[in-house]
Amino acid sequence: MEKITINTPGFRSDILVGKRWDSVAGLLPEEGIIIITDDNVNRLYGDRFPKIPVFSLLPGEESKKLEVIEHLAEQLIQAGIDRSGFVLAVGGGVVCDIAGFLASVYMRGIRCGYISSTLLSQVDASTGGKNGVNLGGTKNMLGTIRQPEFVICDPEMLQTLPEHEYLSGLAELIKTAVIGDKELFELIEKSFDKIMLKDTDLLTILVAKSVRFKGLVVSDDEKETGLRRILNFGHTFGHAIEMQKGVTHGFAVASGIVLATEFSFKRGYINLDDKERIIRLLERFNLVDNLDLTDNQMEKLVRNDKKKTGTDIHFVFTQGIGKAIVEKVPVDDVLGFYKKFRDKK
Ligand SMILES: NC(=O)c1ccc[n+]([C@@H]2O[C@H](COP(=O)([O-])OP(=O)(O)OC[C@H]3O[C@@H](n4cnc5c(N)ncnc54)[C@H](O)[C@@H]3O)[C@@H](O)[C@H]2O)c1
Repeated sequence: MEKITINTPGFRSDILVGKRWDSVAGLLPEEGIIIITDDNVNRLYGDRFPKIPVFSLLPGEESKKLEVIEHLAEQLIQAGIDRSGFVLAVGGGVVCDIAGFLASVYMRGIRCGYISSTLLSQVDASTGGKNGVNLGGTKNMLGTIRQPEFVICDPEMLQTLPEHEYLSGLAELIKTAVIGDKELFELIEKSFDKIMLKDTDLLTILVAKSVRFKGLVVSDDEKETGLRRILNFGHTFGHAIEMQKGVTHGFAVASGIVLATEFSFKRGYINLDDKERIIRLLERFNLVDNLDLTDNQMEKLVRNDKKKTGTDIHFVFTQGIGKAIVEKVPVDDVLGFYKKFRDKK
């Protein structure tokens, strides 16, 4: 097991990679705990949950809305959860985003911890303290930043994950490698078969590497005023694709990475060899399939992006495998690039 600690002002969060999820009891208070999960995870693992109240949500992005938070808060009141209460999330990014948001606003904040059960949430979503729900057509519009006390990333849980969801998580893993860890990129490149076989030892190493990188970034800039922005690589286009096409997060991000890499190449930040290696790796895992938004569809969503300030947007470019920079770019330039990219197709 590897423990990676994220230290942010006034808070400490332990990410426990390789810890068995069903050993969670030792990390919990004696009473006042509730579990938030979703129906798929509950069906697969519910019989081994600690014997405490369980609130199970409909699986999927549809549950990430304010009504669900309100409904859960009412359930917490009914269950007698007070300010000493503890919310334990057991699930993927959706469950962790919802549970984290709920815990951060219920009675102005109660304690929480996560058992992170998808590859996407282990390598990305459950580390860093961001949470939130969608509003209308915009992703994660309402949310807070609040670190869970612990996150358990047990690679054994990934064995039950449908292949599509597993591959979705790989996209975020590749994102981390592209922006910050060349060694991780090379390890993914040469481990195709083992990755596809969900080799538990390898997964422990991959998840730990990704969490370690994200932990360093978040410890440096929890509130995303600088360095943390690089984690949004691929997400400007990716979020637009996700909202418009309703595809799985990682697949949308993978297409967003292709576009951000092409944009980086166009601006001279990355050489042809690195550009092709990044795109080839994503294609090898069959992750790229959503590059067909019309210019108008893209424009509408990019202009609504949270990372936009006025007429500019903080856009993340790759400067070669393992390096990234953030630049304030006119939204018109981002959209102009997309239009030219589409015209060439
Ligand atoms: N907070 C952040 O920093 C952050 C970062 C990246 C993504 N996200 C969010 O994460 C969400 C996507 O997360 P996700 O991909 O984990 O989606 P998800 O939580 O919807 O899980 C995907 C599917 O896998 C099922 N599942 C979960 N664990 C399972 C298991 N062990 N075995 C079998 N099935 C299992 C779920 O029921 C669901 O159907 C998006 O809403 C995205 O915005 C948040």
